[in-house]
Amino acid sequence: MLSILIDAPTGDFEMEVIIQESPDSAARVAASIIARLIREKPTAVLGLATGGTMEPVYRELVRLHRNEGLDFSRAATFNLDEYIGLSVEHPSSYHAFMQEHFFRYVNVAPDRIHIPNGNAADVPRACREYEDRIRALGGIDLQLLGIGRDGHIGFNEPSSSLASRTRIKTLTQETLLDNARFFGEAESVPRHVVTMGIGTIMDSGQCVLLAFGASKAEAVAGTVEGPVSASLPASVLQFHENVQVIIDRPASGKLERTEYYDWVYEGKPDWQRYE
Ligand code: F6R
Repeated sequence: MLSILIDAPTGDFEMEVIIQESPDSAARVAASIIARLIREKPTAVLGLATGGTMEPVYRELVRLHRNEGLDFSRAATFNLDEYIGLSVEHPSSYHAFMQEHFFRYVNVAPDRIHIPNGNAADVPRACREYEDRIRALGGIDLQLLGIGRDGHIGFNEPSSSLASRTRIKTLTQETLLDNARFFGEAESVPRHVVTMGIGTIMDSGQCVLLAFGASKAEAVAGTVEGPVSASLPASVLQFHENVQVIIDRPASGKLERTEYYDWVYEGKPDWQRYE
């Protein structure tokens, strides 16, 4: 049985659900997918995300950079989103988050780091230029994604167009409350953001979505097993050919086919596993 798998590894990449026992081991899986890409293609274009889910992923990438020489010097990065009207020095801005958790420790060239500009004089124009810059660098090879309890990816809240591009969005009250922990109080969270669109995300070569904790279980189940709907934006990933959904056990709690996902992952030959 195993030799058949080794002789004929068919993939099972399209929406690959990888359930790990802890956020840290899930983060290691995600980081090793990214590391493999960077080693195979040093000029890779990475789509990056922020938020609590990403912290262990960046910790592991920083460790790989320091201890195993993972080299980001020729890579380029594009972040998913940023608040409108928050200075880039504000500790809760996503510019600050990325410096604090990743860029200050690794060697991505500053002129190859891109984060949406929530302070541009003409934000819609800055959004169009962001899309142009992604295209100019050949498109995003791998997009890292978290997910909101309401199923948002980037800040594409429910009802976002599944074809949307980088633009201004208004956060839901649920997301404002969820993100209040980074600001101290919900009143301080900006209501408006710039986010890559769902169409922008879908254009990337590969999507790696992470989710931890029981509070994400419903959104994860809808993403993987629910109907595709703008009411749960992450569900559109079912139309993408190369998606890894990397979650901890609590986040898998509402999935119906966990045994099958474990069976698929455990049956992979070593070179197709990510640890
Ligand atoms: C952040 C982003 C958001 C978050 C999501 C989950 O750049 O795009 O979609 O990934 O809100 O946030 P956490 O990880 O804080 O639960």
